[in-house]
Amino acid sequence: MSRYVLQTTASGLCLEDTFSDQHPTLLDFTSGQFNYRLKKGGGRRELLAKAVGAKDGTNVIDCTAGLGRDAFLLASLGCRVTMIERSPVVALLLDDALERALHHEDLAETVARIELVSGNAIDYLNDVQTVPEVIMLDPMFPARKKSARVKGDMQMMQRFLGTDGDVDTLFAAAYSSGCSRVVLKRPLHDKYELPIKPTNTLRGGSIRFDVFVIS
Ligand SMILES: C[S@@+](CC[C@H](N)C(=O)[O-])C[C@H]1O[C@@H](n2cnc3c(N)ncnc32)[C@H](O)[C@@H]1O
Repeated sequence: MSRYVLQTTASGLCLEDTFSDQHPTLLDFTSGQFNYRLKKGGGRRELLAKAVGAKDGTNVIDCTAGLGRDAFLLASLGCRVTMIERSPVVALLLDDALERALHHEDLAETVARIELVSGNAIDYLNDVQTVPEVIMLDPMFPARKKSARVKGDMQMMQRFLGTDGDVDTLFAAAYSSGCSRVVLKRPLHDKYELPIKPTNTLRGGSIRFDVFVIS
């Protein structure tokens, strides 16, 4: 039997790590905890919203969809978000979670602003048809240590996916796509060097957003 098992349950599609005691990962945009963040987490005052400059109708490509939380938060603020995920397994989890959220009356409008693309964002950006205003990147940096702060589903994702070894190529594809802003989310003290310095940086408790404004 393989270590990771994808299974359909009554609650939705789950990914289980059979080598771990951790609960199987099920993405749930309808959960109370997630919706508390959407409603009370600060909305447009959230650091992510500020970094993106989120307004009604802002077009965003989230090149590193992952658990979909950042993309969903931006869509809840009125952004039109294309989220791209290259792990076919994670894309299936996202698709399942979006389908469930679509049937939730408070969330259907938000889901309608999200498009999920299963594939590599580098290929997508190299052939992008409609240039977005903002590109959001949140890769698993090669230098990212196993941090005590990374918990729960994200910890599981780190085990399952490992790190992203092509951050430079992804950043270059985003920066040269014609968009007007690239937002890079990273651990607060991350030392990974990119060839271009950010225009400004917004710092939170454990993460920071490097914002590259392209004129
Ligand atoms: C740290 S997670 C992103 C978490 C996400 N921001 C959230 O709110 O849940 C990084 C994700 O980006 C994906 N990824 C990394 N490079 C990618 C690429 N070039 N194209 C598409 N997906 C990519 C990884 O597979 C992983 O699922």
